Amino acid sequence: MAYWTDKVAIVTGGSAGLGRVLAESLAEAGARVVLAARNPERLDRAVAAIAEQGWTVVGVPTDVTEDADVAALIERTIVEFGRIDLLINCAGCSDRGLAAETSVERFQELLELNFLATVRCCRAALPHLIRSRGHLVNIGSLAAKTATRFLGASPASKFPVAAYSQQLRSELKPQGVSVLLACPGPIARDDAGQRYDQQAANLPDAANQPGAGVKLKGIPPARLAATILQACQRRKAEVVMPGKARLLFAVAQISPAAGDWLLNRFTKS
Ligand SMILES: NC(=O)c1ccc[n+]([C@@H]2O[C@H](COP(=O)([O-])OP(=O)(O)OC[C@H]3O[C@@H](n4cnc5c(N)ncnc54)[C@H](OP(=O)(O)O)[C@@H]3O)[C@@H](O)[C@H]2O)c1
Repeated sequence: MAYWTDKVAIVTGGSAGLGRVLAESLAEAGARVVLAARNPERLDRAVAAIAEQGWTVVGVPTDVTEDADVAALIERTIVEFGRIDLLINCAGCSDRGLAAETSVERFQELLELNFLATVRCCRAALPHLIRSRGHLVNIGSLAAKTATRFLGASPASKFPVAAYSQQLRSELKPQGVSVLLACPGPIARDDAGQRYDQQAANLPDAANQPGAGVKLKGIPPARLAATILQACQRRKAEVVMPGKARLLFAVAQISPAAGDWLLNRFTKS
């Protein structure tokens, strides 16, 4: 039997982008999938596209920044399927702006969505993941490990996801729960280069580019999803894509000045 067959997976942010591709890949691999996102029409469309293939899927309208919504998401999953084997925290967003000009409110907003919602969903799902000796996947970003220019509040809201994931990984290992942190670079998508038109209007052109001008090709989402699910199945600690970014992380730890130099060399200005 294939690894994901009949496992129960929740994907937050499962109605669009990477979350939707992860949800489709899991459903295709035989998992029973629960999609969580706010906009009910978009959620319904994503659910219908998966159900049409004959795969098992449920959509639960959820705002992951709300305690009550997340509690209801977990409860509905248990009522529907009786267990949880995998939680993927994928709901999140990036940002554009200069750090010095980014407001306290914007930092709060992104911390709420990118970090605190991850904590909230993990806490709610953990009793079930411990029971199933299951998997937790937190979608970070290269910006969870390195702070590129023009990314507004994004790096400061993603770095804590890396710290939290690392600590959880050690603490949950004895209970049989694996924790995977995924740190992708820019993901290929149809609206790349236009998503931040408004936020990047007064910034150099690079700011509106994927990854705020980082010189990397967009990662095909299906390839990223496959890599994440394989790493999750193998109970690995991290996925970094592209892998060469690890070199930058290591250099920056040893010499921040050399790290800055490398980062600026590999980003358009
Ligand atoms: N795109 C990239 O190049 C890239 C690169 C590195 C990392 N990432 C990370 O990968 C993840 C997915 O990014 P993406 O660009 O593929 O996403 P996306 O296309 O913008 O989709 C975001 C998803 O999250 C949901 N969402 C947003 N706020 C939510 C909330 N408060 N509660 C519940 N669901 C919410 C959205 O649905 P609703 O709006 O209907 O709620 C949607 O389903 C994010 O964590 C992002 O930081 C992306």
